[in-house]
Amino acid sequence: MKLETDLLFLRDYVMSDLENFYRLKSCREVWNYSTFIPVFDTATAKNELKNLISKQTADGMGFCALFSKSSGEYIGEAGILSCNTNADRCVIGYNLLPSFWGNGYATDISKRLIKYAFENLNVERVEALAMKNNVASCRVLEKSGLILEGVLKHFTKVRGEYFDVCYYGLTRGDYFEKN
Ligand SMILES: CC(C)(COP(=O)(O)OP(=O)(O)OC[C@H]1O[C@@H](n2cnc3c(N)ncnc32)[C@H](O)[C@@H]1OP(=O)(O)O)[C@@H](O)C(=O)NCCC(=O)NCCS
Repeated sequence: MKLETDLLFLRDYVMSDLENFYRLKSCREVWNYSTFIPVFDTATAKNELKNLISKQTADGMGFCALFSKSSGEYIGEAGILSCNTNADRCVIGYNLLPSFWGNGYATDISKRLIKYAFENLNVERVEALAMKNNVASCRVLEKSGLILEGVLKHFTKVRGEYFDVCYYGLTRGDYFEKN
């Protein structure tokens, strides 16, 4: 997948992204609100990147590499993580390196992913999940136009503790009413 906004450029990962991929996967701060366990050796990161790329080749789903258009720097990752082809719905997600937080990048790429899902993949519904205490991510989803549909109590377990998860969604009808 290749997508652009005024600020950002998103493309499929390739193996030569390993150094950037490892920087993201080994940054503890990025994974505070996630079940993902940071990776601290390049061999494991290489394997994860390889698996991600083969899944992407098979079904087109998964995180893609995100770059700044102006500087060409790697910012993090975003993408359509999964698609339920029976019900025509998909899940979006993003993870950015801390030095790029607070610039509106996650909102920018989320809006673009939502547009792509409705206008190119022709889905009926776009969804996203964020831990309730991940205030920044919940804010991103709200700013992107997704609606908070419910809070799933103790839906996830991170480092031995249960957390509530906010479930966001937007239907095709609601999207095209506003766009
Ligand atoms: C969550 C994340 C993607 C946000 O990226 P970002 O590019 O900084 O997001 P944006 O700049 O588009 O928007 C962030 C919003 O959250 C707000 N925000 C950030 N931290 C906040 C906090 N602690 N309390 C309240 N609001 C907060 C910002 O002010 C901004 O809202 P505003 O525009 O109304 O001021 C980024 O912090 C990240 O990658 N975190 C680690 C990985 C992660 O949590 N991924 C998502 C898993 S669901």
